Amino acid sequence: MKLTRRKFIKNMVRSFLGFLGLSGLSYYYAKYVEPDLLTVKKFSIHHSKIPKSFHNVDILQFSDTHIGFHYDLNKFEQLIETINNKNPDLILFTGDLVDEPQTYSFTDRLPLLLNRLEAPLGKYWIYGNHDHGGYGTEKIYEVMSRGGFTLLQNESKAIQKDSDSFTLAGLDDVMLGRPDIEETLSERREDSFTLLLAHEPDIADQVQRYKVDVQLSGHSHGGQVQLPIYGYLITPPLAEKYVEGHYRLPDGMDLFVSRGLGTTRMPYRFLCRPEISIFRLNSPEI
Ligand SMILES: [Fe+2]
Repeated sequence: MKLTRRKFIKNMVRSFLGFLGLSGLSYYYAKYVEPDLLTVKKFSIHHSKIPKSFHNVDILQFSDTHIGFHYDLNKFEQLIETINNKNPDLILFTGDLVDEPQTYSFTDRLPLLLNRLEAPLGKYWIYGNHDHGGYGTEKIYEVMSRGGFTLLQNESKAIQKDSDSFTLAGLDDVMLGRPDIEETLSERREDSFTLLLAHEPDIADQVQRYKVDVQLSGHSHGGQVQLPIYGYLITPPLAEKYVEGHYRLPDGMDLFVSRGLGTTRMPYRFLCRPEISIFRLNSPEI
């Protein structure tokens, strides 16, 4: 009897110590290991409206770097090299460059690094809530412009290749900007393949009504912390319905939500690795 009880207590203590050890390890992993485990997600986009000149064109999306919050410029420089090594044709940034623009000490290094990114079809970006927040609107615009990125704020551009083109549209940030879907798409040809950038993914429910073929978003960070089987725990407003990966919406629009690269509020990622995404276009005309 005594022996059994002693054994029971011993097992209890061992389990408790095991739990403490595991949670300590998990904490270490979530803070110091996983935030650096960059993954590259690859998607194929097949659509009847993709012109043949764009067959096999690679579009690279990166999002939510939140520089200044446990994401420094050395890490950003590694990212720049990784992106250039993928040889993308077009580079898109979907918002939240710096975590807190009002307190971040900007130096020339940030635009110089952005300027090193190379893409023959161009580099475009949209505002996220952290870019507009803390009076960042003008400063982030200046940094991105010096970095060779063109802002899409409720506007669209025809991306030209040979004799073909498609529409690249960008919506102003939904939370802190003045998003206007109609204005954003007012210049496009209706039959043009249309890819729209919007920081907050949940706006997709409205965007899909405007014959947009693909929406790319960030903002969710995938929840940053996920549990096995259960998945994500908390996501920000306007990233509650669409949190990560690919969704096909009822009106036929494809939505892709990036987990992004950095962190905010809590410097952890657990079972929710940072990512960049590459979308290879496939034309039916080939
Ligand atoms: Fe973000």
